[in-house]
Amino acid sequence: MFWVRVRVRVRVRVRVRLRLPVPVPVPVCLGWAGVGAVAGVGRVPLRPPVPPQRHDCPQLGRRVQEGVCHMAVWFRLGGGEPIVKVMFAVYAARIDRDQPLAGLELGELPAPEARPGWSVVDVRAASLNHHDLWSLRGVGLPEDRLPMILGCDAAGVDADGNEVVLHSVIGQTGHGVGPKEPRSILTERYPGTFAEQVAVPTWNILPKPKELSFEEAACLPTAWLTAYRMLFTNAGVRPGDSVLVQGAGGGVATAAIVLGKAAGLRVFATSRDEAKRKRALELGAVEAVETGARLPQRVDAVIETVGAATWSHSIKSLRPGGTLVISGATSGDRPSHAELTRIFFLELKVVGSTMGSKDELEDLLSFCAATGVRPVIDEVLPMDRAREGFERMASGGQFGKIVLSNS
Ligand SMILES: NC(=O)c1ccc[n+]([C@@H]2O[C@H](COP(=O)([O-])OP(=O)(O)OC[C@H]3O[C@@H](n4cnc5c(N)ncnc54)[C@H](OP(=O)(O)O)[C@@H]3O)[C@@H](O)[C@H]2O)c1
Repeated sequence: MFWVRVRVRVRVRVRVRLRLPVPVPVPVCLGWAGVGAVAGVGRVPLRPPVPPQRHDCPQLGRRVQEGVCHMAVWFRLGGGEPIVKVMFAVYAARIDRDQPLAGLELGELPAPEARPGWSVVDVRAASLNHHDLWSLRGVGLPEDRLPMILGCDAAGVDADGNEVVLHSVIGQTGHGVGPKEPRSILTERYPGTFAEQVAVPTWNILPKPKELSFEEAACLPTAWLTAYRMLFTNAGVRPGDSVLVQGAGGGVATAAIVLGKAAGLRVFATSRDEAKRKRALELGAVEAVETGARLPQRVDAVIETVGAATWSHSIKSLRPGGTLVISGATSGDRPSHAELTRIFFLELKVVGSTMGSKDELEDLLSFCAATGVRPVIDEVLPMDRAREGFERMASGGQFGKIVLSNS
């Protein structure tokens, strides 16, 4: 009998590439014991009153209280002072076009540094926008900018203790970035607001009206500002005019219903969901119909953010000479019928709209403070439960804004 001896040699080569600032710091995860053993080394505490957070620690494999996890604390080789302050953040770690939430991570990242012309703000509340899901799909966010902290808007406290709101369009006027840099929204080029702190050009900081809570103010800079500009700058409507708001549950849509009602417009709304149609009526819509259903009258303007699924209906709902304002395409940007004949024959206007100016945000803040109008908030979650908020938004289940709070 012969025995054949086969020897298999498997060589596994693991190459770890660290992109670290000089002079060669090393990211390590230490337990409390490890920290105690290295004198003078520890997590740099952020200024109070940032409360402790709980988050997932991949190294420990469980949820932990802030300060227990040291996964992202960076040290100089051989001990010494940490060179990067860290903070809790919600960020895009990977791009996944089909499963956007697969690239969402919660953990510690370097905190922003002060630099000329920019200010660091302690974030008290920030709100989710569909833009954050687009970012996780890679729309406007290339892989080489990862990891990118998500969150387009926030309210918080600046270094002097002032309560502030952020205008999240960076570079519109060149402030803080120079005149040649193209306009961007927080999270596209610069880290966003789902963190303990965020840095923005000082020009982008506005005082928060005392009448608004941090949670309410955090809803205004993106969805509400977009709705404000769509209605009052681009649709050109006046009190008494009629407007159709598509997809009543969205952040921009609920803003358009509330602002339109407050400004004396006859607001019609559509939604796929009966409960949301009821909510739209409670917010002040005169009628709320199923998505695609005929309206009792033609309208002066349409506020469109749903895109392909409602495009035809939007065009058909306009009176001759009416205006369709579009700022988003949640259901896709390729409608099966472009309705070109109807557009030119009835002399309809199609106007694109994106975000709004700092002046418009100031006007919106005063409008809310003066009229008692408040953003519609679906729910407020602690920042470390951001994933639940993302899941709710991805499923389209929300009515109004989902807010993440640091307090
Ligand atoms: N250009 C800008 O400056 C700007 C600013 C803000 C937002 N946006 C864009 O505007 C869009 C809306 O954003 P958002 O955060 O307000 O809300 P959102 O989470 O995108 O929700 C929009 C609404 O669209 C409706 N909807 C979604 N899929 C649909 C489908 N297949 N058929 C019919 N209705 C559908 C849903 O309403 P119902 O469930 O009630 O039917 C949903 O609540 C996004 O695409 C966003 O990127 C653009």
